[in-house]
Amino acid sequence: MNKEEFLSKYGVDRRNTSAVKWDGMQEEFGRSDLYPLWVADTEFKIPESSIKALQQRVAHGAFGYSITPEGYYDAYFNWQKERYGIELHKDWLRFGTGVVQSLSTLLQFLTEPGDSVMIQEPVYHPFRHVVENNGRQVVANQLVDFGSEYKMDLEKMEEQMVANDVKVLMLCNPHNPVARVWTEQELTDLLELCRKEQVIVISDEIHHDLLPSDKKFVSALSIKDGFYRDNMIMVDSPSKTFNMAGLLISHVVIPNPQLRDRYDQQQEILHGPASNILGLVAGEAAYRDGADWLDGLLAIVRDNYNYLKEHLQAAFPEIKLTDQEGTYLAWVDLSGVVAPEDLKHVVQDQAKLAVDFGSMFGKSGAGHIRINLATTPENLQAAVSSLVKTLQENQA
Ligand SMILES: Cc1ncc(COP(=O)(O)O)c(C=O)c1O
Repeated sequence: MNKEEFLSKYGVDRRNTSAVKWDGMQEEFGRSDLYPLWVADTEFKIPESSIKALQQRVAHGAFGYSITPEGYYDAYFNWQKERYGIELHKDWLRFGTGVVQSLSTLLQFLTEPGDSVMIQEPVYHPFRHVVENNGRQVVANQLVDFGSEYKMDLEKMEEQMVANDVKVLMLCNPHNPVARVWTEQELTDLLELCRKEQVIVISDEIHHDLLPSDKKFVSALSIKDGFYRDNMIMVDSPSKTFNMAGLLISHVVIPNPQLRDRYDQQQEILHGPASNILGLVAGEAAYRDGADWLDGLLAIVRDNYNYLKEHLQAAFPEIKLTDQEGTYLAWVDLSGVVAPEDLKHVVQDQAKLAVDFGSMFGKSGAGHIRINLATTPENLQAAVSSLVKTLQENQA
């Protein structure tokens, strides 16, 4: 689907629908008149096939305890196999109500209180929170900024793993917020290191369908034909791809039977969530018929990114953006034009942008902002004009 068709068919005003991004702006930013470019969801309806499937299910009217429909497994497994060559099995798969909720459950049985868990900053901030809230220690390895892309520092990682007796690595692939899609070689090197140091890998692949570039996504599950699978757990969800975070559905993929038993035991203790039938119904239809919808979304993300980069850098060549390999979240380094301590005042108070500030993702994110590109061109373009104008006025 092309961009114009997607916008006219799926664009929707989310105001006054209890949408965090719009209706939660007052609480988060203290005002509600900002350009909404924060929280990672989109301004678009879910695929038509999902809307229809939900309508049918809702019309039925009964919502008692539910099991996972067989069709869900087929649709999700086909999607993964056809697009990425990932072979999944039904007995590996567990469901949750959200990826972060699953990350928390995983840490509870993979580690003991006080154990060290490695994250790679700057990274999606709940990674740190989930470790700390469970009474575990964060070991923050810093990604290295090469301007247009960030890379992993495996040497430093190894040092930190050994020094802190790290038990688990939380990998983000594609990486939010720096927009990297890790290559097969990078993942192979990383997984080999984790195997050597006996560090279990949790691979958060929630952004894996969001590929506005021609970069190929490789799942950690597929590296060396699954050689490292016993040492890893993969989490993902249809929620990020198809904009259904409010439907509370996520996957936990555990190929190793011992780890799976321990996960199941932990779920018993927590009386963990079963499955949410509305999320399953919408997700199944999206995996079956949502490819065209996804093409439309990615066309918008791509154009919005190009617009953002072109207009910011035309006005201020010092502004740096990483390449948008994956995710719909652009990572913009404004440190060349605004002092980090003034960033919030300039971007939020003066230019009126509601963005996520880089320091939220770790100290190394200071001076950056994360801009959500999964929005209408009007919203993005108005925000860019406002930012450029503010920066120019401040310089005058
Ligand atoms: C890397 C990553 N993991 C997890 C999530 C959230 O997942 P959920 O809403 O299923 O908890 C996000 C949301 O942006 C994310 O970027």
